[in-house]
Amino acid sequence: PPPEAALNINDIAKFAEQVLTSTAWAYYRSAGDDNYSFDENTAAFKRFWFKPRVMNKVSHVSTKASILGYPCSVPVFICPTALARLGHPDGEMNLVRAAADEQIAMGLSINASCSIDEVISARKRADQPLFFQIYLNKDRAASAALIKRVEKEGFKAILLTVDAAVAGKRELDQRAKGNFSGPANSTADKNKGLGVAHAISGYQDPDITWDDIPWIQSLTKLPLIIKGIQCVEDAEKAFEYGVQGIIISNHGGRSLDFAPAPMTVLYELHQRRPDLIKKKEVYIDGGVTRGTDVLKALCLGARGVGMGRAFLYANGAWGEAGVRRVVQIMREEIETSMRLLGVTSLDQLTPDHVRYVDRALPPSKL
Ligand code: FNR
Repeated sequence: PPPEAALNINDIAKFAEQVLTSTAWAYYRSAGDDNYSFDENTAAFKRFWFKPRVMNKVSHVSTKASILGYPCSVPVFICPTALARLGHPDGEMNLVRAAADEQIAMGLSINASCSIDEVISARKRADQPLFFQIYLNKDRAASAALIKRVEKEGFKAILLTVDAAVAGKRELDQRAKGNFSGPANSTADKNKGLGVAHAISGYQDPDITWDDIPWIQSLTKLPLIIKGIQCVEDAEKAFEYGVQGIIISNHGGRSLDFAPAPMTVLYELHQRRPDLIKKKEVYIDGGVTRGTDVLKALCLGARGVGMGRAFLYANGAWGEAGVRRVVQIMREEIETSMRLLGVTSLDQLTPDHVRYVDRALPPSKL
């Protein structure tokens, strides 16, 4: 079926499961250990309910947002994810093109399957908000050279991912043991016996510390965003180090199982440091499948949310058109939900629009 046949993000996942190779599906879908964090990422959103306000003149609504100062059509960005070519021969180039056409921000993974040159050639405008995600290399000189190169190539920010000191134990990926071609800009291990994740992560330095932050800042003028903050204390610490933003994330549940859902950590941060959220750029990712999820995070002060798997699945199923479809679905859902919530622009969302409920019943099967 065409991408338009997908009415929601779950439809896209179901379709992708049917058409992706078993290696691609296993690598994309896999999560840590027993998938508790993976499930909790979605479940956490379901514990927030709205307080809608009625009769507010909602025929005109705007979903426009700003991510690190770049205007975006929706407060949703493409998370950095490895190996988009496992799903489609054009790989990350599809993501870059679709991000340009739909006016959204995107993080490119250091473990992307397209080379930096390919990605640059796919970029549609020099001012396109394309960010570059890194893991620190055990060989710091290699990291330094890469950071300098991506600044020169016009990437707009560095995302430093810190929630995966080592790859999590992902059994779905390990069992698939499939063949694949590795990332273009980093090295891959020939021993693929532990699955894709382990094969591509060997260069990453588990000994990264906070002291590496000033070192990175000394190498580049680009804004630095720490991705993978998982508690209030580390959020505070990151901003003490002068970073421009944080992404609260548990790596889509792929790292430590029982790491808390980002929405839960955002709620704690909102309760304990509302001042910080107000002043600083805080983002979350993990388990976002609905426009209402996005609005809930924004109510608690997030500036935007990231999505990972949905874009990989859609790219695998339909290429560029699929990636655009994800954005269209999210935009329509956000617009409709804004109208029903009684707001016409995202800056009208406040903590008073949501309430926490201890237990939400699972939805009935459709
Ligand atoms: C990821 N993620 C990730 N993060 C990162 O910083 N660098 C990377 O190379 C990757 N690679 C990667 C591959 C795959 C297949 C997935 C699914 C995820 C994590 C990603 O950026 C993001 O945090 C999660 O995907 C968000 O959760 P959802 O939207 O997939 O639920």
